[in-house]
Amino acid sequence: MNEVVNNQILLSSRPVGIPTRDNFTFIKSSIPHVNDNQLLIRTLYLSVDPYMRGRMNDQKSYIPPFPLNEVITGGVIGEVIETKSPDFQVGDIVLGFLGWQNYSVIDAGQVQKIDTNVAPITTALGVLGMPGMTAYFGLLDIGQPKEGETVVVSGAAGAVGMLVGQIAKIKGAHVLGIAGSDEKIRYLIEELGFDTAINYKTTSNIQLALEKACPNGVDVYFDNVGGPISDAVLSLINQGARIPLCGQISLYNLEKQDVGPRIQVQLLRKTATMRGFLVSQYTDRYDEGMTQIAQWIKEGKIKYSENIVEGLERAPEAFLGLFTGENTGKQLVKVTDC
Ligand SMILES: NC(=O)c1ccc[n+]([C@@H]2O[C@H](COP(=O)([O-])OP(=O)(O)OC[C@H]3O[C@@H](n4cnc5c(N)ncnc54)[C@H](OP(=O)(O)O)[C@@H]3O)[C@@H](O)[C@H]2O)c1
Repeated sequence: MNEVVNNQILLSSRPVGIPTRDNFTFIKSSIPHVNDNQLLIRTLYLSVDPYMRGRMNDQKSYIPPFPLNEVITGGVIGEVIETKSPDFQVGDIVLGFLGWQNYSVIDAGQVQKIDTNVAPITTALGVLGMPGMTAYFGLLDIGQPKEGETVVVSGAAGAVGMLVGQIAKIKGAHVLGIAGSDEKIRYLIEELGFDTAINYKTTSNIQLALEKACPNGVDVYFDNVGGPISDAVLSLINQGARIPLCGQISLYNLEKQDVGPRIQVQLLRKTATMRGFLVSQYTDRYDEGMTQIAQWIKEGKIKYSENIVEGLERAPEAFLGLFTGENTGKQLVKVTDC
């Protein structure tokens, strides 16, 4: 295979503020030799995710920073095209944490097979993958919505948010979504069955809009975005509210630390629980989440959407689009046809 070109995307400088294409470099290399118990994988789809922005900074976190001038890594679906492992065959479709490149050589133990009979393979990076598990466990384990309660979710038209709202509906809650375009608002209400939704980009007073939309206060706030949107929602929480702290995307590109209202008094008075979580805390329960979500999809109770751009070279653009709201549902990059 050495004559085949492997296009690769490296992080070549650390972004300050909003990343740009200049932070990425495109190179061509050859494909490494496949050793015993290794696989050669052709990339089919790769995932771009908001958490990758944190990995672009040189800072201590729950996951190490991307090293400079190395291939960016993330969730990838690929096809095995050469195998030196007895556990895999050529043609197997696998999921792994691989590079933004056409081909990867990886130890067989580092990837898992995808059952192509269950659902389209792209769902392994979306509704039946990491974002799906984030919504399922974050909402049900921490949010614990009950019949008749009010659940608010920000980032509502994204990969995680659209599932949170639909699962909350299944549990009998009144659901309000916050998202950034009229088309997303229409989609949430008309297609996904949210009770109501607010376009935070065109609503002049989000606080007032929320007060009107949540006359009974907020029992569960699934926080994907942080910042002023979350400040407004948190001012409306009820006694005993639960707040799964999932993401803070509005802060990821800030150059200076943000200072907001001090919310401890509000949490105290309302005996509320705010809990940060990482989906990786739930890996040993993924089977439960995947089985339940697959069942809900089969029953027509959950719909999902994917935004797919084509071409490895468009991965940086797809990633940057997460911060301007280009995606409805899971953002993926299609690298090669199956
Ligand atoms: N805790 C965990 O384990 C875990 C796992 C997965 C994801 N997350 C977090 O969950 C959140 C959602 O992730 P996702 O994968 O589902 O991404 P996503 O929602 O599919 O994509 C990001 C969306 O965020 C919205 N957004 C971007 N900048 C914003 C801003 N300044 N203010 C408000 N909204 C903004 C955009 O939609 P609009 O058009 O609505 O602006 C965009 O489409 C992220 O914060 C992510 O870091 C956490």
